[in-house]
Amino acid sequence: MPFTRHSVYEGGGHVPVIVRGEGAYVWDDRGRRYLDGLAGLFTVQLGHGRTEIGEAMARQATELGYFPIWSYAHPRAIELAERLAHLAPGDLNRVFFTSGGGEAVESAWKLAKQYFRITGQPTRHKVISRAVAYHGTPQGALSITGIPEAKAPFEPLVPSTAHVPNTNIYRAPDGLRDDEKAFGRWAADRIAEAIRFEGPSTVAAVFLEPVQNGGGCFPPPPGYLERVREICDEYGVLLVADETITAFGRIGDTFAMSRFGVTPDIITCAKGMTSGYCPMGAMICSDRLFEPFRKGSATFLHGFTWSGHPVGAAAALATLDIFEREGIHAHVREHEEQFRQTLERLRDLPIVGDVRGAGYFYGIELVQDRATRQTLSNEQAERVLRGYLSTALFDHGLYCRADDRGDPVVQLAPPLIIGPPEFDEIEQILRTVLTEAWSRL
Ligand SMILES: Cc1ncc(COP(=O)(O)O)c(C=O)c1O
Repeated sequence: MPFTRHSVYEGGGHVPVIVRGEGAYVWDDRGRRYLDGLAGLFTVQLGHGRTEIGEAMARQATELGYFPIWSYAHPRAIELAERLAHLAPGDLNRVFFTSGGGEAVESAWKLAKQYFRITGQPTRHKVISRAVAYHGTPQGALSITGIPEAKAPFEPLVPSTAHVPNTNIYRAPDGLRDDEKAFGRWAADRIAEAIRFEGPSTVAAVFLEPVQNGGGCFPPPPGYLERVREICDEYGVLLVADETITAFGRIGDTFAMSRFGVTPDIITCAKGMTSGYCPMGAMICSDRLFEPFRKGSATFLHGFTWSGHPVGAAAALATLDIFEREGIHAHVREHEEQFRQTLERLRDLPIVGDVRGAGYFYGIELVQDRATRQTLSNEQAERVLRGYLSTALFDHGLYCRADDRGDPVVQLAPPLIIGPPEFDEIEQILRTVLTEAWSRL
């Protein structure tokens, strides 16, 4: 199983078997119900059991189950590409389909390299990305990833990546913690510094998530994304927004970058595009990046068998229909503040150091000392986070994630259809389990 300690189950542990889902809830094979606090894996935006999506997929499988889009096309791929281009900000009008986020990240890096190669800047190939950011498991995407432990077993990876600080203001250097704007400026300028250090003529792209998941939901401080855009323009570097998690309503718009008002050169997305009903991803790039591929023998030498799969495209189109019809973005915007306030109530617990995030996407950082922000020791993280918290939350009826890839956090990204009653349920389960976790530290 992916990212799983098999010894737990080899030693007799029970693998939870989830058999059914309805709305924001799933049920296991013992008939127990769980609130899906992570929308599967940041995917099930519209909730479980949407027969409309299943029916659209079945219709498509009957009409045309598969045909590649390698120099061919089919109606659903055309319709979906047009729709995504229309929804994407600025002139991001060119859509390249993948089957997931990691493949989209690979595609973006390869496009950046080939674009520069055929436009007379062949030395531009490096990528700058941020500490603790997760960008996927293929070796290129893993190289861009900023989590040393996830990379170590596979080194050497693809060379040519450099990492800069993320926007975790809770762990900002002294003097910057109380001034979001100054911190944002400082963090953005670390990107400029890295570009200069690497040599601007060697840098192809900056990859970042508008709200970074790894480490527990770091929103961009005011002015940060604008400043990064400026820096990329100044040095002729492409800005790639990895919206694998943040797209499709998670932050209250189809793309978080639109909500933040900054247009990147490329967006990578996946997960919520089909509300998790089918694997589907995309890299969406600007007209400018497509331009050199219009002429002569130029070919983007890249692709996947499943690129633009008809059944996946049908699932995505049905998902986008529901987004529009049910006003999902408006629902998130209307309730996001209440979601935040409900989670903020947990700040009265001594183990809760920080509550941060945006939209329906939050991280709760756990500490052993709130006054000093002292994080859990490795032993505490192992014993309490892994040994207690993950299973206890689940046993109390909340599926979510306790993550210690950076400082320990509980991550929440529920289906976008939930409202105040489910917010309260999440808060109450967290309160019970985090209170007990504190006593076990
Ligand atoms: C920001 C980001 N990029 C890329 C990926 C990789 O996506 P996938 O697992 O679909 O390859 C993820 C997965 O969680 C992600 O969060």
